[in-house]
Amino acid sequence: MTTTANIYQNYIGGKWQGAGSGETFPNYNPATGELIGHFPLSGEAEANAAVEAARAAFEKWRLVPAPKRGEILYRVGELLKQHKEELARTMTQEMGKVLKETRGDVQEGIDMAYYMGGEGRRLFGRSVPVELPNKSGVAMRDPVGVVTCITPWNFPIAIPTWKMFPALVAGNTIVMKPASDTPLSALRLVEILYEAGLPEGVVNIVFGPGGTVGEALLHHPDVAVISFTGSTESGRHVAIEAAKSLKRVSLEMGGKNAVIVLDDADLSLAVEGILWSAYGTTGQRCTACSRVIAHKSIRQKLVDMLVPRIEALRLGNGLDESVDVGPVINHSQLEKIHSYTAIGQADGATLVTGGSIANNGELARGHFYRLTLFTDVRPNMRLAQEEIFGPTLSVIDVASFEEAIAVNNNTKYGLSSSGTTGAEIQFPFGGTRGTGNGHREAGIAGMDVFTEWKVVYTDYSGKLQKAQIDE
Ligand code: UN1
Repeated sequence: MTTTANIYQNYIGGKWQGAGSGETFPNYNPATGELIGHFPLSGEAEANAAVEAARAAFEKWRLVPAPKRGEILYRVGELLKQHKEELARTMTQEMGKVLKETRGDVQEGIDMAYYMGGEGRRLFGRSVPVELPNKSGVAMRDPVGVVTCITPWNFPIAIPTWKMFPALVAGNTIVMKPASDTPLSALRLVEILYEAGLPEGVVNIVFGPGGTVGEALLHHPDVAVISFTGSTESGRHVAIEAAKSLKRVSLEMGGKNAVIVLDDADLSLAVEGILWSAYGTTGQRCTACSRVIAHKSIRQKLVDMLVPRIEALRLGNGLDESVDVGPVINHSQLEKIHSYTAIGQADGATLVTGGSIANNGELARGHFYRLTLFTDVRPNMRLAQEEIFGPTLSVIDVASFEEAIAVNNNTKYGLSSSGTTGAEIQFPFGGTRGTGNGHREAGIAGMDVFTEWKVVYTDYSGKLQKAQIDE
């Protein structure tokens, strides 16, 4: 550890401040092991202060006309565009995915800024006919209050923007608790929001563990909404705890997505799609392909085409433009991913390539895993059922289209299939079963969890008219 590393702080109510305890946690580059900086190891006190600041700011922010709130988001979009390259590099250093992908991550944020900026002049409600004369009715969207965003490390900018931008344009205020593996990208995003003119206190960021900061936010009576992306296990805990105080909860969790390749498929196209969706982001997307369900008549040909292409992908530091696949996020994920290789072999699957920690030369400094392919995977094996969140792909043989669909749906998750990755922000995003709890992010549907429908009747008749009673 060097003493020259930057020390970062929480931003609460317009003030930079460390944890009251003075404690910090380190943030490392997963490709090189280099120290990026120290962040406050916050706890309940800092979480409570952030909620108080957000609660106070809500009283004013909700009264700012929505088009003005939207204009700030347009400026955020401009600033994200200006800083795209720098933000992409920060993200690559912090979480490892290659520059091409971190640029895409910022682009998702830019798209979301303009999209939700536009909502400032829409935020459509509904004017609906009423049954009584000289009376009208309008349904409109009201903000809910203080929104807590608990965000993951795999999309350190994009996912916070999916949550923050619709919440902000609707008039809510925010406490942001980013993943401890990617605090710096989240901090940069918050700085940009303020550079764009956001009033102090509207967005507050608190760094620290889920076990303390997350728990405090989850139980705080003034938090109205929790928007969470992460593991199914943590999401279930969030839902159970939040239910006790009737908080709204939007959960975006794991996946076990598949590409189905039948006997009439264009195999070259299938190979391109599989490579990108299984090994892009080192397999660390909730939308990643982790199963190929292949018709037995083309399975061997597909595998023969796939293997040399997998082996040609270059592992390394994502800042190097010639690298195809970066590291995995940290040591414990590396061990988890590696444990699935042993599990697959013990269950009788065939390891075709990869299956080991890559520690030759420069790679030894980071957390790299060789791109892994298993065949002879049966649909009920753990390899085919559990989310690995790494570069491990399983090929499952089927004899018909019907069997392919049945295998595809036979998991506790339900998110994406075929292309699997690459959702655009103007569409609703989310999943079924163990992946979500019925909410969607992005698109107009993404506004639902952050708004409360309110109906306003105006009666011009000058007398007391009674719905359902007056003839
Ligand atoms: C995630 O991995 O949590 O569709 C989100 C995609 C990206 C978002 C992934 N736009 O793969």
